[in-house]
Amino acid sequence: MSYSRERMSYQEVPLDGPRSAAELQSLVGQTITPDGLGGEKALRLFGDVLAPACISIDHPRYLSFIPCAPTKAATLFDLVVSASSLYAGTWMEGSGAVYAENQALAWLAGLAGLPAEAGGVFVPGGTTGNLSALVAARYKARQDRAGNRPARWAVAGTEHAHSSIVSACDVMDIDFVGVPVGPDGRLTGPALRAALEQSGHDGVFAVVATAGTTNLGIVDDLDSVGTVCRELGLWFHVDGAYGLAGLAAPSVRPRFAGIERADSFVVDPHKWLFAPFDCCALIYRNPAVARAAHTQRAGYLDVVTDNDEINPSDYAIGLTRRARGLPFWFSLATHGTQAYTDAVERTLTVARYAAERIRAAEHLDLLHEPELSVVCFRRRGWSAPDYRAWSDRLLADNQGFVVSTAHDGETVTRLAIVNPETSEADIDLILDSTA
Ligand SMILES: Cc1ncc(COP(=O)(O)O)c(C=O)c1O
Repeated sequence: MSYSRERMSYQEVPLDGPRSAAELQSLVGQTITPDGLGGEKALRLFGDVLAPACISIDHPRYLSFIPCAPTKAATLFDLVVSASSLYAGTWMEGSGAVYAENQALAWLAGLAGLPAEAGGVFVPGGTTGNLSALVAARYKARQDRAGNRPARWAVAGTEHAHSSIVSACDVMDIDFVGVPVGPDGRLTGPALRAALEQSGHDGVFAVVATAGTTNLGIVDDLDSVGTVCRELGLWFHVDGAYGLAGLAAPSVRPRFAGIERADSFVVDPHKWLFAPFDCCALIYRNPAVARAAHTQRAGYLDVVTDNDEINPSDYAIGLTRRARGLPFWFSLATHGTQAYTDAVERTLTVARYAAERIRAAEHLDLLHEPELSVVCFRRRGWSAPDYRAWSDRLLADNQGFVVSTAHDGETVTRLAIVNPETSEADIDLILDSTA
């Protein structure tokens, strides 16, 4: 408890950084022994060596990938969840936890404008969420086309769809039909229709639109894509693992027009909604379809499956589940939804500030006008080794963690701003270091 209290009381946590396996071997050695090290020694090894060998994702200048910046309330409640021995796979065993998780899911479904009967489950991450949604979608297609099954099933999306979509297709052994995008990088209904006609693939059952791509924060044209999906009878899934947190922010809410047409969507509170890992909200317009697709059946489960209760395990892959939505629920219940709006808006303000500074700097090029809170840019004259050296130096000096990315075949870099404690001064420090 005192370790946790100290970790949570830092004004600014040290960034820390990775060490080689050889270094860790020499500093830590073998920890699994027949008699045990004892809790104090094991904790000392963790606190002195292992923890500092992990980068602090909640540092205000951790701006790589998609960071995670939990509120103190959410982090504290993660400890409570661990101490409470909850099982949140079934209503029978975890009704109190499931009730609270469902209120948090309902807030998100309501922000998206889905009907009151919408619902789902908190799963470990966007990857599992996307896969589970597509499995439900294919289940429905199999039912709908029982007498007329295609040789191969397929999902359509753009090259900007997250890597987890193609990975889901691999796991499901289905095809991915790529839809070309225009210069703005967005998937649109007309482009979707044309690509489907041109591909001639008769097994497309779902379309994945992205609401906030990982690299650039692009929001697809959900409205026109949703319209085409409805016309063609295709399942409309929206991957908003990162970006759909923006539903809470009035300044960007209009970008998501059409989300109310989604058959399913994911949004990760562990990304831009201030919850700790691992927490993805997976929401279905019609949860009954997902339940039919995912419910596991066995004699030992009859006691929980043969009734009308809400069993979260029935809505995704996985049976045993931690009440991973509760830290998010507790923080939301504690602070209220307005605080979430304010915090997301704050990150957007800082992202716009970063874009402005990049635009004004002669040695930097803004690569995409930020739609959300990701800001992607080029440092003129730099190639991959320069970005690498800069990034390594920032981390070694405990200044920041900003890695490069590839965009249109070029090495560039990006700032992903989801931590409300990231300030304009933090952005200045990072951008000044590129001079
Ligand atoms: C748009 C998008 N979808 C899906 C994912 C995968 O989410 P997770 O890492 O939680 O599995 C990410 C992760 O960054 C993402 O940005």
